[in-house]
Amino acid sequence: MSAEPDLTVDLAGIRMKNPVMVASGTYGYGPEYADLLDLGRLGAFVVKGIRIEPWDGNPPPRLVEVPGGLVNAIGLQSPGADKFIADYLPFLRAYDVPVIVNIWGRTIDEYERVAERLSAAEGVAGLELNISCPNIKAGGSSFGTDPRAAAQVTAAVRRRTALPLIPKLPPNVPDIGGLARAVAEAGADAVSLINTIPAMVIDTAARRPVLANVAGGLSGPAVHAVAVKLVWEAARAVRVPVVGMGGIVGAREALEFIIAGASAVAVGTANFRDPLAPLAVADGIRDYLVEHNFKSVRELVGTLRLP
Ligand SMILES: Cc1cc2nc3c(=O)[nH]c(=O)nc-3n(C[C@H](O)[C@H](O)[C@H](O)COP(=O)(O)O)c2cc1C
Repeated sequence: MSAEPDLTVDLAGIRMKNPVMVASGTYGYGPEYADLLDLGRLGAFVVKGIRIEPWDGNPPPRLVEVPGGLVNAIGLQSPGADKFIADYLPFLRAYDVPVIVNIWGRTIDEYERVAERLSAAEGVAGLELNISCPNIKAGGSSFGTDPRAAAQVTAAVRRRTALPLIPKLPPNVPDIGGLARAVAEAGADAVSLINTIPAMVIDTAARRPVLANVAGGLSGPAVHAVAVKLVWEAARAVRVPVVGMGGIVGAREALEFIIAGASAVAVGTANFRDPLAPLAVADGIRDYLVEHNFKSVRELVGTLRLP
């Protein structure tokens, strides 16, 4: 019988039991799912986007199902940094899981303030810098789609935190490698991608957009093949680790990201159908490693054989 493969990952100093985290905005702040599984079995817990002050998000309807996925325009609803630290972080701290906080702001100053506040709190393992949300008018993807602005906000936050810093990149850019390089040179410790793809759904009977925000972001299986190409290009462009996400349903999609060069992966939309999906993905990665004689998941990263 072969030895148990090593699933552990060190993501820029964040020590994960396995390479599978939950994607921001798809697992709440922890308590929502804690009755269903031991959160300590996740590779990492990525919290829904936090802003320095509370934020209501967009008016409803803000979520619609489409073939192969969801279009959402939640608009980064957030309890604010102080409430998160007081009410949610102590709950998450009780689990043996790294907590990565996804942060956002409308201005660089807001990004700096939320990063500083969270860095002073006990129990935050890393910051995922959301510069790629398509659903808000100021901030979000207006930073992420321009490499210079992305580098500027990354450098500004870098000066305010010693925590591992992981800018989250948007898919709708002409040169994802150049964008990944820009944030890495500005001090990012890792990059994650993809955020949702700008999208829109029309109610033909009413001739109105289905979402109150008019447009939203597409996620789920429909985006997966797009995400694989972008993760592959980003991983080739930078030396920092890459977190791959977009349309993971089972181990196969996660393995594609890892083979393309991702050191870790995140499961998002699939959690709404099956909150235990991240555990099944980790088990499936383990089975693949056994079957293909890999001693460690780290050996599999970036092993794509090109024709
Ligand atoms: C309902 C919903 C809310 C989301 N909220 C956030 C968020 O707050 N911050 C963020 O960076 N990404 C957010 N995302 C994007 C996901 O983290 C992920 O990048 C994207 O959905 C692609 O992965 P998936 O296809 O597995 O869902 C959200 C996605 C969904 C579906």
